[in-house]
Amino acid sequence: MGGKTKIQYPRQTIIVSSRHNNKDNAMTLSWHSPASFDPELYSIYLSKKRLSHELIGQSRQFCVNFISKDDRESALLAGRNSGKDMEKFETLEKEECEKIDCPRLKNAMAIMECEVIDEFEVGDHIIFIGKVVNKKELKEGKRLFHLGGDNFTTTED
Ligand SMILES: Cc1cc2nc3c(=O)[nH]c(=O)nc-3n(C[C@H](O)[C@H](O)[C@H](O)COP(=O)(O)O)c2cc1C
Repeated sequence: MGGKTKIQYPRQTIIVSSRHNNKDNAMTLSWHSPASFDPELYSIYLSKKRLSHELIGQSRQFCVNFISKDDRESALLAGRNSGKDMEKFETLEKEECEKIDCPRLKNAMAIMECEVIDEFEVGDHIIFIGKVVNKKELKEGKRLFHLGGDNFTTTED
């Protein structure tokens, strides 16, 4: 048992996009979950160190981008670099969300546009609870799953 796989993985990897004061950003997350059917709520778990934590904390909006198993490089770009140091959308392609003032990933498989209705500090992370105000399935196919570190997998057929 063990090797490179950590006990709580695999987890589906997403990219969360955000915008505040004309700064657009994207961040990779493996810690996230549906939280309620009605109203439809989705929760994301961010370290307070992330620029995305600041942007979402201020704008009260974010977009969840579900990504393909082939998007490993995008996940590493958005997950190993801070928007404090680079413009990630110089590499990632974006388009505008429909219901919130926020970018989303052009090649996402599905998106959920969210408005923050609550946030909680939990240890060294913040949970943002987002009300889903728009969602779309854009492509079919397998998703990217994180195994911890730089290791990824996908689902069986
Ligand atoms: C596969 C992967 C999953 C990650 N999951 C999370 C996560 O769930 N929560 C978190 O706070 N950071 C997570 N990170 C780290 C952030 O994506 C990383 O710190 C990023 O640079 C933050 O960007 P920002 O400062 O532009 O917001 C993950 C990184 C990778 C590569």
